[in-house]
Amino acid sequence: MDAYGEQVRLRAMGVADAESLWRWNHDAEVMRWMDEGYAETIGQVAKWLDERAGNAYGDVLFGIEEPGGTLIGLVRLHGAEPETGVADLDIYLGEKDFWGKGYATDAMRTACRYGFEKMRLRKITLTAVVENEAALHIYRKVGFVEEGRLRQVFRHEGQWIDKFTMGLLAGELR
Ligand SMILES: CC(C)(COP(=O)(O)OP(=O)(O)OC[C@H]1O[C@@H](n2cnc3c(N)ncnc32)[C@H](O)[C@@H]1OP(=O)(O)O)[C@@H](O)C(=O)NCCC(=O)NCCS
Repeated sequence: MDAYGEQVRLRAMGVADAESLWRWNHDAEVMRWMDEGYAETIGQVAKWLDERAGNAYGDVLFGIEEPGGTLIGLVRLHGAEPETGVADLDIYLGEKDFWGKGYATDAMRTACRYGFEKMRLRKITLTAVVENEAALHIYRKVGFVEEGRLRQVFRHEGQWIDKFTMGLLAGELR
């Protein structure tokens, strides 16, 4: 089932989304605070989208649509384990024209609510580069707290810099 926030719709992704995903992953501004993969062709991205197993407990990938129906980014809950009820979250908006409109905050809340209510998760975790102020702001705003600091794990402008590990327990979502 799709998941609806106040503004965004979260829906499954498929081959038709390959061009968007490829473009986002090759945009230096979008990827500035994220671990870059190796260069890929659109065909390889399409193949990955086509061949990945459908959404299931251990890996839920949602495309984020804004109210006009444009795909603007993705959010993923992955690595969930029934023994612990903990999953990791990744989010980014690849369409830069749609930054600063509240969509990532709404998508975070919607994905976390989906995790806690539908998947019965107990906890959601993520990591964020300590200098990524916009991302840290939205994570704190929805209730994530810093739990630790991973030293020198991210390469930025010729320096190795740190990441925070953050966590949100069921009941803490704001
Ligand atoms: C970070 C990102 C997800 C934010 O998405 P967005 O839709 O623009 O975010 P929102 O509009 O929901 O909220 C942005 C908030 O951050 C704040 N913000 C923006 N830039 C900021 C900065 N440099 N310092 C502090 N706060 C900042 C805004 O004021 C706003 O807060 P408010 O709603 O309380 O006023 C998006 O810009 C993105 O995907 N960036 C590239 C990839 C990335 O960094 N992903 C996260 C990797 S961990």
